[in-house]
Amino acid sequence: MKNLVVYYSMEGNTKQAADQIAHRLNADILELKTVKKMPKSNIKIFFGGMLSVLGVCPKLEPIAINPEQYDRIILGTPVWAGKPAPAIRTFLKQYNVEKKITALFTFSGGGDNEGCVQYLKEKLPNLKSTIALADRRRPMASMNDKKLEGFMEELINGQ
Ligand SMILES: Cc1cc2nc3c(=O)[nH]c(=O)nc-3n(C[C@H](O)[C@H](O)[C@H](O)COP(=O)(O)O)c2cc1C
Repeated sequence: MKNLVVYYSMEGNTKQAADQIAHRLNADILELKTVKKMPKSNIKIFFGGMLSVLGVCPKLEPIAINPEQYDRIILGTPVWAGKPAPAIRTFLKQYNVEKKITALFTFSGGGDNEGCVQYLKEKLPNLKSTIALADRRRPMASMNDKKLEGFMEELINGQ
């Protein structure tokens, strides 16, 4: 089975987990990058949150592979204003892969993953495995390794 891990990450949390999952599953990996970058200062929370609430689909940098050629896609996103990061929305609009996405991992700063998972569940009919992880700066992040381990085991056994 050909696996692809697709993710967006602004501050590295989702990227680190995506690298770990891809390595363990021997999967290809695709980082989504927006053409317009987010501001570096604290205004990014307001600005990014607004893009998320408004349902904006930012333009993505060109993608070198075709995600539609994979059997299974594992999707990773930070929670932005209770939803997936806007780059994820663009990805789902741009490629016909909703049915291939069976697993999802989300990162939040305040434990606000539920709304984001629900939002994606409604778009992804074959979503089976989800994990909610905490930003590494939060105390709840101590649970991340255990959760990730279970998630990866589930994906390996489900092959
Ligand atoms: C624009 C923006 C909006 C965010 N909105 C939320 C939110 O609604 N709820 C929450 O728990 N965390 C929120 N966060 C925190 C991120 O989800 C969290 O820091 C995550 O670990 C970042 O992942 P990354 O390092 O892969 O970018 C937000 C962060 C940003 C930058």
